[in-house]
Amino acid sequence: MTFPVHRLRRLRRSEALRGFVRETHLSTNGLVYPMFACPGNKVRTEISSMPGIHQQSPDQIVEDCRQVADLGIPAVILFGLPKQKDETGSEAASTEGAVQRSIEAIRKAKLNLLVITDVCLCEYTSHGHCGIVKDGEVLNDSSISLLADAALSHARAGADIVAPSDMMDGRVAAIRHKLDENKFQDVAILSYAAKYCSAFYGPFREAAQSAPQFGDRRSYQMDPGNAREALREVALDLEEGADMIMVKPALSYLDVIQRVRERFDAPVAAYNVSAEYSMVKAAALKGWIDEERIVLEIMTSIQRAGASIILTYHAKDVARWLKAC
Ligand code: PBG
Repeated sequence: MTFPVHRLRRLRRSEALRGFVRETHLSTNGLVYPMFACPGNKVRTEISSMPGIHQQSPDQIVEDCRQVADLGIPAVILFGLPKQKDETGSEAASTEGAVQRSIEAIRKAKLNLLVITDVCLCEYTSHGHCGIVKDGEVLNDSSISLLADAALSHARAGADIVAPSDMMDGRVAAIRHKLDENKFQDVAILSYAAKYCSAFYGPFREAAQSAPQFGDRRSYQMDPGNAREALREVALDLEEGADMIMVKPALSYLDVIQRVRERFDAPVAAYNVSAEYSMVKAAALKGWIDEERIVLEIMTSIQRAGASIILTYHAKDVARWLKAC
């Protein structure tokens, strides 16, 4: 007979007790703030489906990064928009690209901030796919050398970490090889290892103007029904040289985060993606939910599932709320 000896409510009686026995402690330590870099100067355009998030030219990105660093957020991840899209996404590796120029500006400002870059072609290609297209097919092997070129250009500009999000096979090895060959052996790779083909990327595609112009991403991103396959993806990326691995999206895939955490010892990141943000923002704007409590609960659940690194558009708010409490 366990009751009345065992009373779990005993340890819930006060905030002091609850804090004393809490298993998951939120902090700003693993937060990554995603940002959209666009060409030009003094450009700051809000993304209508993502209130509070902007496309910004490099000069504005630096000012925003100053705020991010002041809030104690350790890292940003940069996405880029090109001046001109083409078949092969050639601006992805341009030294004059918005991402490359933003990194240089952040470095010049000597901010205490890790700079991560998203490595992909979809923002740069006219067809909006994450690799080169031939006869309606997204080609694998010729795409990975272009991705490696993009990663190298980010490293040259001063990125600390490159994060390939394309889901081509073999891209981590190709990037590692290219970086090492060019003496960037200390630039780390955070691979989007288990990236699902998800409707939760909808608002991002407005932000990055990267919606595929034909078809969808089902032939390269993962099927939402598969969890064991995620473990194979992670195992391969680690074998190829990934330093950290990511599960994306976060909320509908907490089981995948947990399984990856249990199986592997590398740092695990989770991407709290655009629609996860937009849904919360929309409901908050309507006054239907308590935004702060909802967001902190979401962050706690992602961390409890096993992610120590969280990429989230809520990062600045989270840092402010944690400071206040
Ligand atoms: C690029 C990329 C996407 C996201 C991150 N990198 C979009 C996609 O794959 O279609 C989504 C991020 C988000 O929704 O916040 N491949």
